[in-house]
Amino acid sequence: MDIQLGFQPIEKIEACALIVIAFDKESSGAGLCTGTVQKADALTGGWIREAYESGEFSGKFAETALLHRPQGLKAGRLLVIGGGKAEKFNSAELRKLAGVAIRTLKPKGIKEIALALDDPFAAEDDVAAAVEGALLGDFEPDRYKTEKKDQKSVDRFTIALPADKNDAKNALLRGKIIAESQNFARDLVSEPGNRLTPSVLAARAGEMAAECGLDCEVLDPNRMRQLGMGALLGVAQGSSEPPALIILRYKPETQQEGATHLGLVGKGITFDSGGISIKPSEGMDKMKYDMAGGAAVIGAMRAIATLKPSIPVTAVIPAVENMPGSTAQRPGDIVTTLSGKTVEVLNTDAEGRLILADAITYAKRLGCTHLVETSTLTGAIVVALGHVNVGAFSNDDALLERVLAASKAEGEKLWPMPLDDEYKEALKSAFADIPNVGNRWGGAITAAIFLKEFAEETPWVHLDIAGTAWLDEPKPFLAKGPSGVPIRTFVNLVLNWKD
Ligand code: BES
Ligand code: ZN
Ligand code: ZN
Repeated sequence: MDIQLGFQPIEKIEACALIVIAFDKESSGAGLCTGTVQKADALTGGWIREAYESGEFSGKFAETALLHRPQGLKAGRLLVIGGGKAEKFNSAELRKLAGVAIRTLKPKGIKEIALALDDPFAAEDDVAAAVEGALLGDFEPDRYKTEKKDQKSVDRFTIALPADKNDAKNALLRGKIIAESQNFARDLVSEPGNRLTPSVLAARAGEMAAECGLDCEVLDPNRMRQLGMGALLGVAQGSSEPPALIILRYKPETQQEGATHLGLVGKGITFDSGGISIKPSEGMDKMKYDMAGGAAVIGAMRAIATLKPSIPVTAVIPAVENMPGSTAQRPGDIVTTLSGKTVEVLNTDAEGRLILADAITYAKRLGCTHLVETSTLTGAIVVALGHVNVGAFSNDDALLERVLAASKAEGEKLWPMPLDDEYKEALKSAFADIPNVGNRWGGAITAAIFLKEFAEETPWVHLDIAGTAWLDEPKPFLAKGPSGVPIRTFVNLVLNWKD
């Protein structure tokens, strides 16, 4: 899909479909509150107003009404999309609507689409969001369908802007890079466990790094053994697939002394069977997405390589398959982590925190001053926050504030979770320094407390994406499957970082 900017008045736009956004009828101006909608209404002899009055269209979010051969317009169709309450509208909502536009029109075989934006919703962030929404909405995880459900494709997506917005070009490029990187990550997440093993994930990261000019290093099991990554190796030992520790490095051209060095860490379990503490078979197929955190980090690095922020960023992705082979670790095993702390593995299905413990320690050894880590870590976070919010845990309020601000700007919802010392009571081992599971209460929190023991004094944020990295049902603006969360938060955080 080719994306471009246009600066023509709407009556001159030649496209198979022109889209305008009209708001909830309760909004000021009865929904017709932007100049573009008023103009489209006037040119079509009051069609939009009539649609409101007949009750056919109310401006509710993501609602659509389609008019063929609209009089007064060069476009073949006019699609009005509901923007919801005008007072609540922002770039995050616009991103979704651009996705709705693609997912409404693509199945109809419509090839050329123009989306008209108007003040006050035509600023640079709006342009970037519209580009992202269109590309994200266009993504289908259908690589392995030999007969594609839909061979149809949109060839051209034009964002039509008021003529004085000529500086929107950079916003278009930024949106394109970010959404393509998010789709790159979604593509990795939708790969099944047999096709995307730890070695394949490392190879895919390496290819991307070579294309984008990042440094990529992959540690093999021998190196891990030399270093003493006993927790990561313990998880890996039940699988015939060797683990890989993927390291991606971005360095800005000029670097200030004493400046922040951000570490991004992502869980890369390419398949989580649970190991000897095996999971129930129902829903186990979904556990191919247990590397969504790692994929988000790799995707974020792809965007970072091109958008060139001012701080160095190092990504560490432990990639491992958790299997119950005859050499698998057993409940009760004790492993020595890279940090030197010993862990009693009471449940082999709590494997994410084990591989992350070693990855976090390693990121610190590489000189990271701040860590942001993301993982599909616990079922408990899904119980707590459902599929709406990512759970955010931190040992540092200032870093958490930065991450929350980035997520807000990008429309990726995060909710802060507690990490009081009292929760540590649940993590007592009779035979080692710490067990890898607590009791049945507050499971997302005890998992985060476990990780905190390895972050130690380094400012760290943990984002549990178990409930948000995968959509069980499609949304009007996004296909079923991987969501790509929280890539945009990462990229925004890094691009806006000021020491
Ligand atoms: N990968 C799972 C967490 C998960 C669950 C992700 C559901 C996505 C959806 C993780 O490795 C796991 O199995 N966690 C256990 C921990 C328990 C054994 C303490 C869990 O959440 O049940
Ligand atoms: Zn598990
Ligand atoms: Zn897991």
